[in-house]
Amino acid sequence: MKKLSLTFALIFAMMGIVRADEGMWLPMFVERLNYVDMQKMGLQLTPEELYSINNSSLKDAIVGLSSSDKPRGFFCTGEIVSDNSLLFTNHHCGYSSIAALSTVEHDYLNEGFWAKSFSEELPAFGVTASFLVRMEDVTKDILGVISDTMDYMQKAQAIQAKITELEDAASEDGKLNPVIKGFFEGNEYYMFVYKTYTDVRLVGTAPQSIGKFGGDTDNWMWPRHTGDFSIFRVYADENGEPNGYSEDNKPLTPKHHLPISLDGVQPDDFTMIWGFPGSTERYMTSYGINYNVDVFYPVVYEIFKAETDVMDEYMKIDKAVNIAYADNKAGLANTWKNFEGQIKMLRKNKVAERKAELEQQFTEWVNADEARKAEYGDVLGTLEAMYAQMSEIANTLFYPNFVAQLNPIGIFAYRGATPEFMQYYMTMTNKESSKEDKAAAAEALKAVDVDAIFQDLDPRVEKDMMDAVLNIYGKTFATEEMPESLQKLLKTVKGDWSALTNLIYTKSMFCTPESVRAFIEKPNAKKLEKDPAFIMYNAMTEQMYSVAPAYRMAGIAIEEADHLFVKGLREFYAETQPDKVLYPDANSTMRMSYGSVKDYQPADAIHYDYVCTANGILEKYIPGDFEFDAPERLLKLIEAKDFGQYANNDGELIVCFLSTNDITGGNSGSPIMNGKGELIGLAFDGNWEAMSGDVNFEPTLQRTINVDIRYVLFIIDKFAGATNLIDELDIHKAMPEPIRVEEE
Ligand code: ARG
Repeated sequence: MKKLSLTFALIFAMMGIVRADEGMWLPMFVERLNYVDMQKMGLQLTPEELYSINNSSLKDAIVGLSSSDKPRGFFCTGEIVSDNSLLFTNHHCGYSSIAALSTVEHDYLNEGFWAKSFSEELPAFGVTASFLVRMEDVTKDILGVISDTMDYMQKAQAIQAKITELEDAASEDGKLNPVIKGFFEGNEYYMFVYKTYTDVRLVGTAPQSIGKFGGDTDNWMWPRHTGDFSIFRVYADENGEPNGYSEDNKPLTPKHHLPISLDGVQPDDFTMIWGFPGSTERYMTSYGINYNVDVFYPVVYEIFKAETDVMDEYMKIDKAVNIAYADNKAGLANTWKNFEGQIKMLRKNKVAERKAELEQQFTEWVNADEARKAEYGDVLGTLEAMYAQMSEIANTLFYPNFVAQLNPIGIFAYRGATPEFMQYYMTMTNKESSKEDKAAAAEALKAVDVDAIFQDLDPRVEKDMMDAVLNIYGKTFATEEMPESLQKLLKTVKGDWSALTNLIYTKSMFCTPESVRAFIEKPNAKKLEKDPAFIMYNAMTEQMYSVAPAYRMAGIAIEEADHLFVKGLREFYAETQPDKVLYPDANSTMRMSYGSVKDYQPADAIHYDYVCTANGILEKYIPGDFEFDAPERLLKLIEAKDFGQYANNDGELIVCFLSTNDITGGNSGSPIMNGKGELIGLAFDGNWEAMSGDVNFEPTLQRTINVDIRYVLFIIDKFAGATNLIDELDIHKAMPEPIRVEEE
């Protein structure tokens, strides 16, 4: 058996029949680079039906979600599923809006929300939806403005000027939002022209006990039983053009919407995912990887974990805190768990070692030719040296940076735009300042939006977070390494970091809205100078600035070296492996990834199925738990197997399934489609064993976790009774096999 399948694999590999699932491809090149493969794997659409700039095509149903009205990147992806621009995305993508709309009285986060008509839909301020109009290659225009004699700054400025010029020219007086981005570490440039809609409304969401079932314990892992979807709608003015929120706006009539298939998935079924993957580092060197694993990720992990542990404690017992901190906590927890996984799996999957082997081959190739030696001979050495330099100073930059963001220390820079306090202090202490300057600086303080600063802050949570982070800071540096002002402050509390937290929370004027207002009424530079939060902020800035310039210089050197290395690597591949097609790293531009439905083996003797069912919800259910509670109504439906048309042939309800598609953060909410371009699910996560996947794709281990569209529709229909939404959808179901009567 074993041999047989191995032989098959070899033959397929040799014939180059079906390419692996690796790659995030630019839709513009689908016909040239991918189409033949995709067709062999099961795609039934034409290239023109996938991506066309003249006719409506699949790409017109793919939406980039952002919080900007002129986005240059997208935090998630959504897809249009009806003629009235109903939009599906993940629950964790809508999370921020849902949390912002929630109050203790209208707790949509925990109770869910279903609009019964257009008029009940809730404006999700701060969410925009962008459609890709077209993309084009602008490499020649951009690279044409630089020359070898320019230094880094000159090149960067020339490129930026050209980008601005081309973007302005393509914007049609601001009606469109053109964005130019670098690819292959700045060796190619493409322009993406978007139309961005700014009136997006929340239409429906399940309670988070469905949308986030399993919480952070299950996050980044399979098997997963999360109904990770939420529903929005895109609104436009009467001409179908973008318009800020207005009661007169109407649902946008889209160019294309995705039909939905109820046919479900079978192993090896063709799947494609379209969306906006944020960032990958597939061309990163071993030096970069080691820097992340040994230096960068551990710091972020340590701080974010400590902060979310504190949030958790209060979120479990206080409903208001639960809502206020939900979004912040989800973001931090998602990041630290990702970094924890990356640290483990980059090591376990020996990614740096394998990259080092590639670098060895590259070096041999370089050394075999004098011209290559002249161009690329130093590049890896530079990367090694620069990462070493960054490693030495990273802690001195990162830890103070996180301390400076704690409340109320962060009030001087981070909470909203509050540069007024600093400006005031500098004006008052500057001998050159006139009376008028001083009066103006004091007056400017009145513009500070004190309510905004304290919005969603709970002093208990903030204080405990400070305590946790200051203690970490205290462990990290020897006292002599700390700025003198901090050493002095620390002496007053006998070196006890928790006592320092208490000191700040009893003595600082910046801990409560009342005392901040009182200060603004009667500002006083001397008082400010003695304020422990102010002292801390300045100490942290001083410490950061002691290394920030060196860190930045190393970063620039790395950027330049990466550009050169990737240029060389592409030549290396072109000469040594001419059949290899390279794809660019993710950079928050529209990509297509194709693969198939597949199970995997996470470890010796363990097999993970490619689907999971609603029975798993009953198994994982823990009544009253923070992460594994589930609505009673859902449990009853599952127990009764009351799944309606959403059950599979065995009467079971599939919740999530796995595919081999190559995705990353930003793809969240992306449609996963079958060969007919019908929606079969929403991509929402990657799996733990392949957390190294952003740096190196692992064909045998790496999977995308998708919520099955049948579970999504089951929740909308049977759980929520939101049949108005079901009626809007374009649901396809294959005709049942005709029953054959055997002839006698
Ligand atoms: N890992 C998912 C992603 O990055 C986010 C899942 C959110 N869920 C959670 N429990 N924090 O897209």
